[in-house]
Amino acid sequence: MKSRSVVITDNATGKQVECPVYEGAYGAPVIDIKNLYKELGMFTFDLGYGSTASCRSAITYLDGEEGLLMHRGYPIEQLAEQSTFTEVAYLLINGELPNQQQHDEWNRALKMHGMTHEHLSRFYTGYRYDAHPMSVLAGVVAAVASYYHDETDIYNPADRILTARRVIGKMPSLISKIYRHQSGLPFVYPDNSRDYVENFMYMMFSWPTESYLANPVAVRALDLLFILHADHEQNASTSTVRLAGSAETNPFACVAAGVTTLWGKSHGGANEAVIKMLEEIGHPTNIQKFVDRAKDKNDNFRLMGFGHRVYKNYDPRAKIIRQACHDLLDEMHLNSELFDIAMELERIALEDPYFIERKLYPNVDFYSGLIYQALNIPTDMFTPMFALARSAGWIAQWMEMMADPDFRIGRPRQLYIGAKQRDYVPLAQRT
Ligand code: CMC
Repeated sequence: MKSRSVVITDNATGKQVECPVYEGAYGAPVIDIKNLYKELGMFTFDLGYGSTASCRSAITYLDGEEGLLMHRGYPIEQLAEQSTFTEVAYLLINGELPNQQQHDEWNRALKMHGMTHEHLSRFYTGYRYDAHPMSVLAGVVAAVASYYHDETDIYNPADRILTARRVIGKMPSLISKIYRHQSGLPFVYPDNSRDYVENFMYMMFSWPTESYLANPVAVRALDLLFILHADHEQNASTSTVRLAGSAETNPFACVAAGVTTLWGKSHGGANEAVIKMLEEIGHPTNIQKFVDRAKDKNDNFRLMGFGHRVYKNYDPRAKIIRQACHDLLDEMHLNSELFDIAMELERIALEDPYFIERKLYPNVDFYSGLIYQALNIPTDMFTPMFALARSAGWIAQWMEMMADPDFRIGRPRQLYIGAKQRDYVPLAQRT
């Protein structure tokens, strides 16, 4: 909704442009600069998009100063305590919590779409046993596009919801097969008598010759992690999914683009990097050395699991995960030296002026790897766990974009700083 306007003046020419300002339901108002180029012949310059709203969205709101996160208006703390991952996925996609009938239909639909084409299984064997799981995941998710390419009309709402069911339904099978291939174990078909998370654990960990009973404490811990990772507004991977989708790309290919972006250690890859860092620290007495390295501008080492572009207060997800990690280790009677190192590292960093001044707090990935580790999930499979959960957010954001009446291809501009025009020099004349 337009509330006021901002006038931008070019001091050199005196030309002006009046830009409307829009207020959202919460958060900073935005300046609509679409007439800037037409009126002043200029673009805006915002490296890292720190001040740029790339879209309108009604899905997720976060307030980094307050440490607040809400999906469709529901605070993350309430969803974490009372909901399930599949219900949160429904909420992200449909905008409302499901009633009992919608809930049952949704869960049934995710199960019905849990199988993948049999030929896709051969795809995995093309990868070395030690291929990074995120590389495999990007490949197999993109490959799924080929099975539904011609039949998917991205402008048809019914096809979009079908795609959402397929994406969320198939991720457990796609990801568990990566682990099974890595471990030399046969692939496991989903068992629809089990719920989503339990089914995933069954496909990951069951033994061909034994019946499999998942530990309910582990199922709940994993479900909680999936809830906490399900969406996070316009982060790097979600923005990638939107940008890919804006070119009318196949939605599975868009999700594959999200996977590749999530892989980076500044983003989802941080959960793996945190565990490696804690292992490298090895003992609480070594923590200060690593904290000093993180503060040293001549060293490119950063404390993994610390800091966030938007949160300048404790990440609300990290608060929930920290407690969950503590409870899980207690309930499973596990001692984790790495958890002790993590808590001590957090204490030292939070008392250090470098971290205080820069408002660097533990983020969602600081403790998540410790939970995955307690659940026997190998370190290089942590980021695929994140991808499984975030697929709900990616597809919800893609659907929202496709339904937007102002939908158009994303095409950022640039400040060109390269060579001025010059003439081609034939090879023989070059010095
Ligand atoms: N360790 C040490 N210094 C840090 C860290 C860190 N983890 N994070 C930021 N800083 C410093 C940074 O050097 C800069 O210092 P100065 O002002 O002196 O130049 C200041 O804090 C501001 O940082 P920035 O680089 O402008 O922050 P950013 O918003 O561009 O980067 C970040 C955000 C998450 C990439 C960064 O904090 C980071 O690399 N953290 C470690 C990786 C990590 O945990 N990533 C997971 C993010 S949450 C999950 C997800 O989104 O997937």
